[in-house]
Amino acid sequence: MPGGRLMRKPGREALPEAWRLAFERDRRGEFDHADPAPERGSGRVLAAFIATGLVFLAFPGTLLGVWNLTSIAAGRTLTAVSAAWIQAHGFAQVFGWVGTFIVGISLYALPKFQHRSLRRFGRLWACWILWTAGVTWRWASTVYGWHWRIALVGSSVLLLLAYALMQWVIVSPGRERPAGRPAVPQDLGSWLGIAGFSGLGIALADHSVLAVTLSRHSAYPVIPPVPDRVFWLVALWGFVIPVAWGYSTRFVTIFLGLRPPRNGHAGILCAGIGGIILLAFLRRFRLAAVLAFGLVLVAIRALRVFEPSERPPKRLGVYRHYPAFVRAAFGWLVVGSALGVLAEWLPAMPGLPGAGRHAITVGFIATLIFAIGPRILPAFLNGRRLASPAAMGISLWLLMLGCTLRVASESLAYGFQNGAWKWLPVSAFIELAAVLVFAGNLMKTLLSPVPAWFEATSVRPDLPLYFYLASFPETRRVLLAAGLKTLARAREVPRSLTVAEAAAADGVPVELVLEHLRAFFASRQPQRERPQTA
Ligand code: HEM
Repeated sequence: MPGGRLMRKPGREALPEAWRLAFERDRRGEFDHADPAPERGSGRVLAAFIATGLVFLAFPGTLLGVWNLTSIAAGRTLTAVSAAWIQAHGFAQVFGWVGTFIVGISLYALPKFQHRSLRRFGRLWACWILWTAGVTWRWASTVYGWHWRIALVGSSVLLLLAYALMQWVIVSPGRERPAGRPAVPQDLGSWLGIAGFSGLGIALADHSVLAVTLSRHSAYPVIPPVPDRVFWLVALWGFVIPVAWGYSTRFVTIFLGLRPPRNGHAGILCAGIGGIILLAFLRRFRLAAVLAFGLVLVAIRALRVFEPSERPPKRLGVYRHYPAFVRAAFGWLVVGSALGVLAEWLPAMPGLPGAGRHAITVGFIATLIFAIGPRILPAFLNGRRLASPAAMGISLWLLMLGCTLRVASESLAYGFQNGAWKWLPVSAFIELAAVLVFAGNLMKTLLSPVPAWFEATSVRPDLPLYFYLASFPETRRVLLAAGLKTLARAREVPRSLTVAEAAAADGVPVELVLEHLRAFFASRQPQRERPQTA
């Protein structure tokens, strides 16, 4: 309830004197409690991004992917399915799901990493609207072909606008650097983030050029194979993978209890990412594949993913074996980039490029998100608890099984007539099941009530009423039930009005109000992390 706005109600003069005096104090700036409203506000924006990403993952992304793969397997050829649908699927997964998660998490977390608190959320909501409209329009126009020329160009403009707004929020012009913070980032995570978001800008600019070219010269909304390859190289190796590595320097390191990453590798990794983008545009695909493989080995060394943990991993509230899946995700990245190299030298095996791409997208990206997302997202979403750690485990095992079947059968099936074809649809349905369990678990988490971040015994009469209402808007119902009837009439709540003053103003014993509040917070206590052994 930012600013304490409630409903259209009578003016302040009709309120009790204690309320009017409190408004006076507010006007003079006489309150010193931190405002919890911004945290709630960022949590809501993040929830919108996550819910949008989950919808894209389940339906436009995976369901369409399953449809495509079963049609390809039935026809025993890649051309059994429309190229527009294959591209729509890729776009939904990379930009609709992974991109939406990355943009939402970055808008939420990066200002915090820079020790800034966002107070106004208009730009964040605008960014969500532009991004969601852009990816939805792009996907729908490719699948249905309805006014696709205008849709391709229009959607790429919306995505560029969303990108510009996101950069503005994150870089925030006029922001003062906190004392003691160096002008140039010193850590690997920041450099990978800079590289990855630059890569996103380049991928979106390339997408706009392709959209204009197609709308002027093509009869179908289908990017030709070579520019399509360039686009995915830039989108995956220039954007998604560097950002995944960048966030891994924080989340994987902390949650797995690893030693700090090797910051000295930042230069070589950023130069390598730039090199892959350049080689992609120069269409030197062999060199790009070899460079990507080498870079993966450097990134794994820099992140220390396969080194032993020096502290026990944080397992509270999540599937306890998730650290093994984080490591398996990096194992898939090695396999995927190695298949990418093999595909360059074995053109007689046309399944290798798709198998390598899915070892990276499903094996690395999806597994990393399935393993780390349920650990960080509930906490970011106003300290919620993951609905089901068991469901998290099921989604990870299914994904691993589906991905193994997929990569193996695709490598062997495409271009040949053999038994591997019959495993492709099986792998698709297993992956779909994994995705539905993951998305259902996170959606259920999103819809669950926000737990209290302070104990029931911390409820005090001298804390401001506004603090409770802004942190937990549901306390409004509790306070009204306790007899604070002015709340029902007030348009806004003064920040400095204490619970004791509000109770006295309405002639209610303060102990009764505190009792109601304590009962509410006691029912909302979260699980707490206890020291564990490895
Ligand atoms: C989960 C189940 C999935 C299924 C069943 C599936 C299926 C497919 C199929 C059949 C193709 C076309 C041919 C081929 O490469 O074999 C394809 C292409 C692609 N997929 Fe997936 N996929 C899945 C997951 C993902 C994920 C999670 C991502 C990204 C995060 C992704 C990104 C892509 C991309 C970028 C392409 C290339 C599109 C193009 O050529 O323009 N896929 N997928």
